[in-house]
Amino acid sequence: MELTINVSGASLDDLSAESPVAVFVHGEPAAIPAWTKDLSEPLQDAIKARCDAGDFVGRANSTAMAVATDGTRAVLVGIGPRRRLDMEALRRAYGTAVQTARGRSFKSLVAPVVPGNDVTAITENAVAAAMMGNYLYDECISERSGLTPQIESFTLWEPDGKRRRRVTNAVDNGKVLGEATCRVRDLTNAPANDLFPKSYATKAGTFCRDAGVKLQVLGLSDLKKMKMGAVLAVGGGSNNEPQFLVMQYNGRKGRAKAVDVALVGKGVTFDSGGISIKPTADMWEMRGDMMGSAVMISTICAAAKLKLPVNLVAVTPLVENMPSGTAYRPGDVVRTMSGLTVEIMSTDAEGRMILADGLHYVQRYEPKLIIDCATLTGAMAVALGDVYGGYFATDNKAAKRLEKASDVSGEKVWRMPLHPDYDEKFKSPVADMRNGGGRYGGASIAARILQRFVGDYPWMHIDIAGIDLLKSGNPYTPKGASGFGARLLIEFLRQK
Ligand code: BES
Ligand code: MN
Ligand code: ZN
Repeated sequence: MELTINVSGASLDDLSAESPVAVFVHGEPAAIPAWTKDLSEPLQDAIKARCDAGDFVGRANSTAMAVATDGTRAVLVGIGPRRRLDMEALRRAYGTAVQTARGRSFKSLVAPVVPGNDVTAITENAVAAAMMGNYLYDECISERSGLTPQIESFTLWEPDGKRRRRVTNAVDNGKVLGEATCRVRDLTNAPANDLFPKSYATKAGTFCRDAGVKLQVLGLSDLKKMKMGAVLAVGGGSNNEPQFLVMQYNGRKGRAKAVDVALVGKGVTFDSGGISIKPTADMWEMRGDMMGSAVMISTICAAAKLKLPVNLVAVTPLVENMPSGTAYRPGDVVRTMSGLTVEIMSTDAEGRMILADGLHYVQRYEPKLIIDCATLTGAMAVALGDVYGGYFATDNKAAKRLEKASDVSGEKVWRMPLHPDYDEKFKSPVADMRNGGGRYGGASIAARILQRFVGDYPWMHIDIAGIDLLKSGNPYTPKGASGFGARLLIEFLRQK
């Protein structure tokens, strides 16, 4: 459901008659903010009573409801010790407020714009956090009862006219950020019988048209003509033909063509493992194995909507990895588009295969930087869990910028090693390399395999296996697909 975002400076008496009001409270002990003097007296009394009783002390992300005798309500949200709220604490506060309101079946929420000079950043993050906290994947649900409800409208309250104008101006960009993350979640949560390469290409077409991004869809015959052997091998076991999307956005003035950043996303719409089939237990999670591609589609569309002054190309090979009589096999030698050959140790190491062709393909644009994003290895999930994304970089400046973007977006990343000593592990006696080298150091081995296909281009690889699905969720991320990566990369591009 679309969340309506409003900005208002109306009297809190009027607003609170219609909707609960979020009150962010520093702790401990609870420090009720001064602006609440504009609330009705009964509501002020109710808030004070809750805090005086000691059952709400303002601990970060703790919540309580204050219900006044006149029927008005406040959602109290703790924001911890008194100091300036950083953007992550701010997103958590707004996300918690929205999740609390929807959990209690309220249809709307009013929340103040918190103090601070960076009104634009505060607003963008408040709006994005509200959208992210209100997220629900209900595409396939017909039985509504028992579902966590959602709020329908979210109002940012700012009494100061001058500040309010800046808030109003920042809302649209906030919506772009919130939409980017929610779109990645939608695509990742979508079941593989709905989202397969061709239906995915159609969906991407809608997103690109909407954002003003140029999209080219390459199909089976194009892939054959281009000799994309890796994509064809991985996609060969499925009745759903592979597709390869090429998206372009030129936002930089001047020499229109030069590409600043090329984005490559892993788009395996379902990863059964192929002939090297996966165990039953968690195989269903592999409907989300296209998350890297969703991140890249979302990122380039958001960059266009934000009119970022940067030239981008994004490509996503889309395949379904299935076992069948036409599937590729362990022991096969696959000739990739680059000409390099790969001996298949496991058909379940399919992500690096299709990325090999994607990484080779983007070199025709001579980009200044290549970034890929993929749910690539179980080893990365084991290493970092659902807390950090792991990244590898051949370029320290880009790595630094990614770390900075991560600090801003709150999507945590940790740098992992690339070293030639890993190469021993994937040597092949019959081909240029193997597609795997054992369990130990699996994330670095996979990264070194990818590196063979980027040539001398500055490059970063982000492995989001593990952080793709959250087992429990956080204040602005209900459990399920996290959407991790889109806001990170958008912020990375904004910093240019
Ligand atoms: N899509 C998986 C990786 C994955 C695992 C993503 C868990 C999200 C959660 C990938 O295609 C895969 O199967 N990787 C194998 C590679 C191995 C066979 C070399 C792995 O990591 O086990
Ligand atoms: Mn796999
Ligand atoms: Zn996979």
